[in-house]
Amino acid sequence: MNNFIFHNPTKLIFGKGTIATLTTEIPKERRVLVTFGGGSVKNNGVYDQVKEALKEHTYFEFWGIEPNPTIETLRKAIKLGKEKSCDFVLAVGGGSVADGSKLIASGILYDGEPWDIVIKREYSAEKSLPLACVLTLPATGSEMNRGAVISKKETNEKFAFYSNTPLFSILDPQTTYTLPDFQISCGLADTFVHVIEQYLTTPGQSPLMDRWAEGILKTIVEIAPRIIDDRTNYDDMATFMLSATMALNGFISMGVTQDWATHMIGHELTALHGLTHAHTLAIILPGTMWVMRSEKGDKMIQYGKRVFGVDIQDRDEAIVEIIRRTEDFFLMLGFKIKLSENGVTIKTIDEIERRFTERNYKLGENRSVTPAVAREILERVF
Ligand code: NZQ
Ligand code: ZN
Repeated sequence: MNNFIFHNPTKLIFGKGTIATLTTEIPKERRVLVTFGGGSVKNNGVYDQVKEALKEHTYFEFWGIEPNPTIETLRKAIKLGKEKSCDFVLAVGGGSVADGSKLIASGILYDGEPWDIVIKREYSAEKSLPLACVLTLPATGSEMNRGAVISKKETNEKFAFYSNTPLFSILDPQTTYTLPDFQISCGLADTFVHVIEQYLTTPGQSPLMDRWAEGILKTIVEIAPRIIDDRTNYDDMATFMLSATMALNGFISMGVTQDWATHMIGHELTALHGLTHAHTLAIILPGTMWVMRSEKGDKMIQYGKRVFGVDIQDRDEAIVEIIRRTEDFFLMLGFKIKLSENGVTIKTIDEIERRFTERNYKLGENRSVTPAVAREILERVF
């Protein structure tokens, strides 16, 4: 096990009726910028609950943070926050609102161009406003991590940066009952692949991390069909919501190596084609597994056995079956998992290879996913 520092200060406030705790969690003297997406919170009572909880606070609303939040939109929110002298940011929505709000919380105290916070890593913890989150979509883990992924429309780029973890996040599983089918599938797939990125490397690094990771994977595989049938079962949605948070808040990555090549390739597909984040992962992961099977083979066998019960003696046959079971999981969620079925052409593969070469990317836990290997992965799932 490698050395590590674990520090996750986000207070998790979980359960029915917990949005009301905003009243006491945000100090009364704060001037709050409340950020929203496109309006889903008006259809499920979340907006009304937030308004009620903040009725004695001074707050300003910013609407319109889109899926894959863009710098073009976030600049407007930063301008509003500066004009109103806001000193607290409350994100209400899914991962995109949370991610965008992480940039807003830094941007309000930043004098330069906010895109530099992403691209030049100009972020500083001291120069960021406190941020909290009311989450309505289990998927990204943004509610309890430092990550945020921001897009730039002008250049079709999408990059991650690291910010503060939210001070607190409120997770009421009842807020998820209005999620459309597609977003449910995306949330399940994103959670699953977040675990895989931190787990599917080499065995023997930490039996504890392995078991925690496998616990989340097995839980997602078990509840997914039930949730697809009925998203209003409180206990299943609570399990889903907590799984998504635990999948990407640092708890399963202590002292172990991590991959993230699938995500990095996936971000390019979103940037260039607008494909939804989790959908890109469902497409790419089987390709990563196939192309990286000699490096990842031992862990893949462990994963196959413990998560899907695959017990085939012949190693090559086992690996083929394990990838098939993974693909079946994504197909069950309703994804089309080939690039060509989703309007992606060879030109896009050329462009991704070109970008990765220009950026000198060497991805994966062993830095062995070179631009040429990324191309092989994309060609495998074409
Ligand atoms: O915008 P509104 O109207 O709110 O509608 C949203 C949006 O259209 C809707 N929605 C959210 N909660 C709902 C709901 N509809 C009905 N009922 C509800 N309760 O769902 C749509 C998608 O929302 P979005 O926030 O974009 O989805 P998600 O949470 O999957 O976030 C995706 C973004 O997070 C990034 C992705 O790259 C992408 O930009 N990621 C962030 C990570 C992180 N911070 O650590 C890690 C992830 O790997 C990921 O990259
Ligand atoms: Zn993800």
